Parts: sequence; structure tokens; C-alpha cells
Amino acid sequence: MLDTLVPRVVTAFGERFGSSELRLFAAPGRVNLIGGHTDYNDGFVLPVAIDRHIALGARTGVDGETNLWAVDLQEWDRFDMGAIASLPEGGWRNYTRGVLWALQQDGHSLLGIDGVFAGDVPQGAGLSSSAAILMATGFASLTLSGLEVDRVGLALAGQRAEHEYVGTRCGIMDQFASSLGRANHALLIDCRGLSAEPVPLPPEARLVVADSNVHRGLAESLYNERREQCEAAAARLGVAALRDIDEETLEARAWELEPVIRRRARHVVTENARVLRAAEALRSGDLAGVGELMKAAHASLRDDFEISCRELDLLVEIASGVEGVYGARMTGGGFGGSVVVLVHESATERVASELRERYPAGSGLEATVHICQTADGVEEVS
Ligand code: GLA
Repeated sequence: MLDTLVPRVVTAFGERFGSSELRLFAAPGRVNLIGGHTDYNDGFVLPVAIDRHIALGARTGVDGETNLWAVDLQEWDRFDMGAIASLPEGGWRNYTRGVLWALQQDGHSLLGIDGVFAGDVPQGAGLSSSAAILMATGFASLTLSGLEVDRVGLALAGQRAEHEYVGTRCGIMDQFASSLGRANHALLIDCRGLSAEPVPLPPEARLVVADSNVHRGLAESLYNERREQCEAAAARLGVAALRDIDEETLEARAWELEPVIRRRARHVVTENARVLRAAEALRSGDLAGVGELMKAAHASLRDDFEISCRELDLLVEIASGVEGVYGARMTGGGFGGSVVVLVHESATERVASELRERYPAGSGLEATVHICQTADGVEEVS
């Protein structure tokens, strides 16, 4: 939580740089309620920024030098702001360097910074710790350079860092949620129009995230492969993106697609429709309606998009059987990672303990359960 992260950052900053001129920034992770793999198809998603953050304490550096200390890893990243492009490195440094490089490409004159990071966004759980690093670094750098922050531009720079430095051809959802998230709201993002509408979450709603602790090494290349399959479907159907096809048209033209490509397209097309229906249900406070759509989304990700696994299916099954749960689905890139559970506040502890107790017998693994509150997007904190 931020109130424990901030003192860690302040202490470490004092040790590394002395205590002068420190400013504090924090960017949240996110969980996606519904809209799996629709973002890179120009579609719709409905994520929520959560109270797990990357906190960055920083000040302006000297002579265009950037010096960043990662408290959790006990590692430095040091580089000259004039030579970032030649420096892709691997690991977390691809995110810090990548976003600064992308912002420079957009014409921003960035000063170097001295900074210290600490975070509590669980890694590898599908909660976007990487987007939080990107947004914290970019936001701090722009602010300390005396520049206006355009939150959409910052999110796009973060996405370009992922594409060019990290090699994941991700969509825009994670960076958008971490940049533009709003406490007590989900964010309905139109990934083509690049607009985000905050949709209030009813006060009795809670989000529980259960990490399956399955982390597949191949997840990144399988993610890119799914994206290629979606692009192949759009090309075959003669449209810019699967966003441009509705369910009826797809059904009528399904014969034009190979069976695998057809299933991928069917997931994306039906999922886009589900996201819009879920946002509508949320607006009218119909949490049961949102939950039903989440269950249908999980089935579609499992059967048509084929990115679930036995362990994620088990977590969804356990959660769905608990009284007070509206719905559950896998979330994030897939092939492991987490499920998100939408639950009435009174059943939060009940579903958390059911997941912890019943998952090991069917999987041989422990589930790591996070009870999440909503959060605002990246900001300067005091
Ligand atoms: C990852 C990507 C996102 C999105 C999701 C799947 O989190 O970074 O852009 O595609 O997977 O919905």
C-alpha cells in the first residue's frame, strides 16, 4: 500500500542521494474486469486501476544523467539522457529507458533525474507492474522537466516502449488504466478513439484477484501469435481491425476463415459486445449482469481464444460457487496469471479463503489472493 511504500522510498532516497528536493510520484497497477485481448483489435476494455503501486521518489539530476535505484531489486540503472536509444538492456531497465526514449521521440526535452523506486504490484500476476513502472517514470520525468503531462500521450509513449524496447506488441489498456484510472470507477476505454470514460463502481462491489502462480515462459510469444491471428482475420475479412465486424456479419462470413482464425475472431467480436453491455450494466448498478458477462467472457477466452489453463479454470470454478460472487474470469495476457472476481463486499473474505483452501488440492499450487481497492491514475503524492 502507498502508506508503506512511501516511507521506504523516502529512506532509500536519503541513503542514495541525501534528503534534498525529493518529490514523490505513484502509478497504479490495474485489473481488467472484462475485455480480454480486445485492445489491440481497436476494441473496448473495462479495467480498474488498483491500490498496488510503483512509487518513485525523484529530483532533477545533474548534466543530463539519470540515476535510478530499484529498492526491491537492489539494482542501479544509470544512463546519459543524450544516448538512451543505443542502450536497450533487458529486465526493468527496458521500461525506464524505453519510456524516456519514447517521450524524447515525441519531442519532449527531458532533464535527467535521480530517483528511487519501490513497488507492491505483484510481478507476473497480470496486474501490470510494467505499466506502473512506465507511467511512474514518464510522469516524474515530464513533471521534473517542467513539462505538461498529456496523459494519453504518456500512455502511448509507454506502449511504444513495450513494442520497441521490450518486444511485446501489447495494446493500450494497461498504460491507459495506469495513466487515466479513477478511484471508485472502472474505465471504459475505446482503444481506437483513445477515449476513456470513468464508469462508477457501485459501493458494495469488491474486486478479488487470485494469482494461479502458473507463469508460462512462452506467454510473450503466444501473446504475439494471438495478435497475428487477429490481424489475419481482419485482413481476410477486408477490415482495418476486428472492431469493425459485428456478430451477425462474422457469422455470415465465418466460412471465409480457417477454423482456428474463426474462433479467435469470434472471441474478439463477442467480447467487444460484452464489454459494452457490461459498462451499461455497471452504469445501472446491475452487478449480477456484469458477473454473467464475466462468466461468458471466461468461457470465450478458454474455448475460442484458447489462452486459459486448467489452473485458471479451477480458480474461476471455485470463485463462481461462492455465495455473493457475481462473476469471475481470467484476466491479463493469459497462459497463467490471475483471475478477477467481482464480489459483494460481504463475501470478500469468504471467497478469498475458499480460493486459498480449495485451489491447492486441484492444482498442487498455492493461490496468492489480493483483495483490491480502486485507485487513481499516476500522480504526484505528498
Ligand atoms: C496484456 C496486454 C494488454 C492486453 C491484455 C489482454 O495485459 O498488455 O494490452 O492485450 O494482455 O487483454
